[in-house]
Amino acid sequence: MSAVSAPGVPPLAVYVHLPWCLQRCGYCDFHAHALRGELPTQAYVAALGRELRRQAGDALGRRVASVYIGGGTPSLFPPEAIGDLLADLDRVLGVAEGAEITLEANPGATETARLARFREAGVTRLSLGVQSLDDASLARLGRIHDAAAARAAVAEARAAGFRGINADLMYGLPGQGVADAEADVAGVLELGVDHVSHYQLTIEPETPFGRRPPADLPDEAAVLAMETACRRRLAAAGLARYEVSAFARPGQRSAHNIGYWTFGDYLGLGAGAAGKLTGADGRVVRTRQEPAPQRWMAAAGGPEAEGEREVLSGPALRFEVFLNGLRLCEGIPATLAAARSGCSRAELAAWLAPVRERGWLVWTEADRIRPSAAGLEMLDSLLLELMP
Ligand SMILES: C[S@@+](CC[C@H](N)C(=O)[O-])C[C@H]1O[C@@H](n2cnc3c(N)ncnc32)[C@H](O)[C@@H]1O
Ligand code: SF4
Repeated sequence: MSAVSAPGVPPLAVYVHLPWCLQRCGYCDFHAHALRGELPTQAYVAALGRELRRQAGDALGRRVASVYIGGGTPSLFPPEAIGDLLADLDRVLGVAEGAEITLEANPGATETARLARFREAGVTRLSLGVQSLDDASLARLGRIHDAAAARAAVAEARAAGFRGINADLMYGLPGQGVADAEADVAGVLELGVDHVSHYQLTIEPETPFGRRPPADLPDEAAVLAMETACRRRLAAAGLARYEVSAFARPGQRSAHNIGYWTFGDYLGLGAGAAGKLTGADGRVVRTRQEPAPQRWMAAAGGPEAEGEREVLSGPALRFEVFLNGLRLCEGIPATLAAARSGCSRAELAAWLAPVRERGWLVWTEADRIRPSAAGLEMLDSLLLELMP
């Protein structure tokens, strides 16, 4: 089997959602549930297997180019269960040789003692939710770990032989100053991570932070100063910014996330998991699995497992291609943008003309369409202009 079965069909990735955490963090609106009682490991992995078989036809013969196991807190699952899941994926679809297989892991739960076993199970890349290296900030965020546990997790991941370790960091935290944000970045760089995802804290409405916003959030000027200082630190340490929030050493960019940003396909497996697929007829659909874990487990393998299905076409499809592609600093090849959006180059040129005239977008000599430096800073406004 080849990586791509037919010309024009995007590469295929798999996203697996494991929806439980030990406790909910105050700022988080991801699809995750505080674990009560035992983790239903066997039942959940068996349900993933049934759902994988139901969706296997959508792969159109493609092998899996990358796997991302996210959550929730996937590292709560035993490494053997993750190994079984990966073996099943290989049996049913075939996982490409050398495929990037990422697992999200939270410092501070017992699972850090198992990082080496995750590697043996086939995981090639770890994404650690460090968030901050300041104990007071971590406590206010509602994290289950302190800074020492975060440092220990990175050290353990390195000792286990992982390369391409990512640390998620947030900035713009309650009570945080520019020097504090910079110290967090300096701290994870000292630990030797290869990739940093650096997110500004967003206050999401349906969260404890949304219901009672912290009074001491830094103002816009402070947040901008944090970005400037942190990005300078990252660049000086050799981590180049390649996406709005992602910074990597050479060779350490996330292949799976680049798949999303270049509008690749992915199967979504697990309660609440999103998928995006191109059909044999060229139609692009977005899917979302039933979100409630118990209902999803009961339905997996049957039609009820699919909660939502939306066909994307015309201006909505074109917009989504750019919503993703313009997150990349290098943008996307124009030929790829045309193929994914079903537009001619002339149609794209006409549609993009107003944002190019504003200086937000560049069509490079190398035939890529990318945001300008100003466009990247103003990405929300740029996208608003393009919105259908
Ligand atoms: C899927 S989440 C969870 C990963 C993992 N469960 C953890 O928390 O360690 C991925 C990342 O999104 C970021 N994130 C979550 N909620 C956020 C928010 N409200 N604002 C900014 N970043 C957020 C965090 O950095 C988090 O690590
Ligand atoms: S551990 Fe991660 S997924 Fe779970 S609530 Fe906290 S931020 Fe959200």
